[in-house]
Amino acid sequence: MQFANIEWRENKGAKNSIGQPYSLDFNDVYFNTDDGLAESEHVFITHNKLQQRFSDANLSSFTMIETGFGTGLNFLAVSALWLQLAPKSATLHYIGIEKTPLSIADLTRAQALWPQFTDVSQAFITQYSTLESGTNHFSIAAGRIQLVLQADDITLALPQLSQIADAWLLDGFAPAKNTAMWSSEVFAQMARLSKKGSTFATFTSAGHVKRGLYSVGFEVSKHKGFGKKREMLSGIFTGKN
Ligand SMILES: C[S@@+](CC[C@H](N)C(=O)[O-])C[C@H]1O[C@@H](n2cnc3c(N)ncnc32)[C@H](O)[C@@H]1O
Repeated sequence: MQFANIEWRENKGAKNSIGQPYSLDFNDVYFNTDDGLAESEHVFITHNKLQQRFSDANLSSFTMIETGFGTGLNFLAVSALWLQLAPKSATLHYIGIEKTPLSIADLTRAQALWPQFTDVSQAFITQYSTLESGTNHFSIAAGRIQLVLQADDITLALPQLSQIADAWLLDGFAPAKNTAMWSSEVFAQMARLSKKGSTFATFTSAGHVKRGLYSVGFEVSKHKGFGKKREMLSGIFTGKN
């Protein structure tokens, strides 16, 4: 398995100025370097309506698939919300797909940016040392969160899955730099792994992503993007287009 090739860069204006991960493989940032957590909340949590969906007293399980697990920031933010809002008896199934996982040293450094998530982060990092190619299972918060980290290329990972997603987090690098994560094959697999009412959210508003998701059956809408990004996309699977 190949680990991510990361450089730690200072951003003096950032909320956390202890260095931010930058991908030397893709020449791109992992998340908004001014405030990655606020971006995650705006794009992925708000536009998948997770606050309201997790608060359902009748919920017994919820399945999410993230394309581009990276530092695990979205996973930590979603997990904290789950533990705060979801019924104690319910299980979050979170599937993260990642071709080049962070080394344990980089992962530990990245997750230290958000000390408010230490409980989940420590449980995760403890189990991360045995990470290998393919499927890796993690059980967190007394089993209330079941994480599968699929350490594979997206084109191998998605066809192996059979779990139907309630919500998708599309978080590859920028489409122009990372075409594999935004291909028609990926969108077709998303349709296979969705049901009526499954949602997605992504930071990008690239035209081919919008058209590709629409063509496989998602209703797609544009919203104000986070920070300097003008627009972002979210949507819901109807299977009708
Ligand atoms: C923008 S970063 C992800 C940020 C991440 N969600 C986070 O919270 O840190 C994009 C991720 O997509 C992964 N990626 C890029 N190409 C991939 C591919 N073909 N298959 C699977 N993962 C890929 C990268 O390694 C990187 O971790």
